[in-house]
Amino acid sequence: VPATAEDIKVGLLLPFSGVYAALGNDIEAGFQLGLEQFGADSGATFEVIREDTEVKPPVALGRAKKLILQDKVDVMAGIVSSGVLGAVRDMVHGAGVPLIVANAGNDEATGAACSPYITRMSFSNGQVNRPMGAWLAGQGVQKVFTLAPDYAAGRQMIDAFTTGFTAAGGEIVGQEFTPFQKTQDFGPYLAKAQASGADAVYVFYAGGEAISFVKQYDSFGLKADLPLYGAGFLTSPLYVNAEGPAAEGVITALHYVPTIENAENAAFAKAFTAATGRVPSEYAVQGFDTARALVEAVKAGATDRDSLANALRQVRFDGPRGTLAIDPATNNLLQPIYVYETVAGEAGLTQKVLAQLPAEADPLNGCAMPAVTTN
Ligand code: PHB
Repeated sequence: VPATAEDIKVGLLLPFSGVYAALGNDIEAGFQLGLEQFGADSGATFEVIREDTEVKPPVALGRAKKLILQDKVDVMAGIVSSGVLGAVRDMVHGAGVPLIVANAGNDEATGAACSPYITRMSFSNGQVNRPMGAWLAGQGVQKVFTLAPDYAAGRQMIDAFTTGFTAAGGEIVGQEFTPFQKTQDFGPYLAKAQASGADAVYVFYAGGEAISFVKQYDSFGLKADLPLYGAGFLTSPLYVNAEGPAAEGVITALHYVPTIENAENAAFAKAFTAATGRVPSEYAVQGFDTARALVEAVKAGATDRDSLANALRQVRFDGPRGTLAIDPATNNLLQPIYVYETVAGEAGLTQKVLAQLPAEADPLNGCAMPAVTTN
């Protein structure tokens, strides 16, 4: 260990309770594995202070404030909900604390509200859904009914899908947003979808809501006549086994599936399964890559908030998802998108890749990236 060993204080902001608790736990498991694997020879020690955001923007804002002002963290990581990211953005940017986003896809955080202090190691809502619109139209699907929870992520994912789908000639014949974290019975919405004249349904749901939605879609008897598509969080390997046979045949798009074939992914999947007993999900890889980005920034010589912010934007490596780089125009991550079908495998449900859609930078969406001011 060099004489100048750094102690880096990390604030980990994740939902450890509420509809996204499982996601928070999986991100943390990936993050810890990444710190162990990459941090050991970094000459630095990483002190992690974890805070529960629940899935409540005001609660998360209070916890972020505590990490910044009281714990005086050097860097923050995490955030699952786009609503939470929207709530903490101004405080993070104003305080000049680097934040590595480990999930929340909020397009504004790498768009009109972009910041040199906010770097994304996950995905943007637009990035995952826009190319799926064109792909689905290319499959001959012409009329789609959409459903998503009524909050920033649901709205942005459906907007992006709609943009891609209609530009390729598709038509949206109906659209509903369900009260977020409050909808237990999707029946009334499914009845509307059924009566809409659609050829297919396209949705975004994640966590506990995804499990109940997929099960209800199947028991409502819709799957055979009205195929179900969506953003791939719907059938995440994290909870697809809780959905069971209801998830079979559902086709979705995502930036990572554990069945991607490359050496980095094979090594990661093996280590993650050894540590947790689970197949890695997109959430796990996001946590893992977040830790790796942090360690790489420290290895590049970053020691404080501003130097970390600058170094994080330049991180580049080959990970389980392939070659990753940050788009300097927005600080979003550049990566390909996979269309996959959930199918029955030898040991439960698995992900069959149908298409790999090329990595595309997001539009600027109003981002005029400011410079890091001090240092
Ligand atoms: C989000 O709120 O941005 C969000 C939450 C859960 C997901 C994906 C996106 O699985």
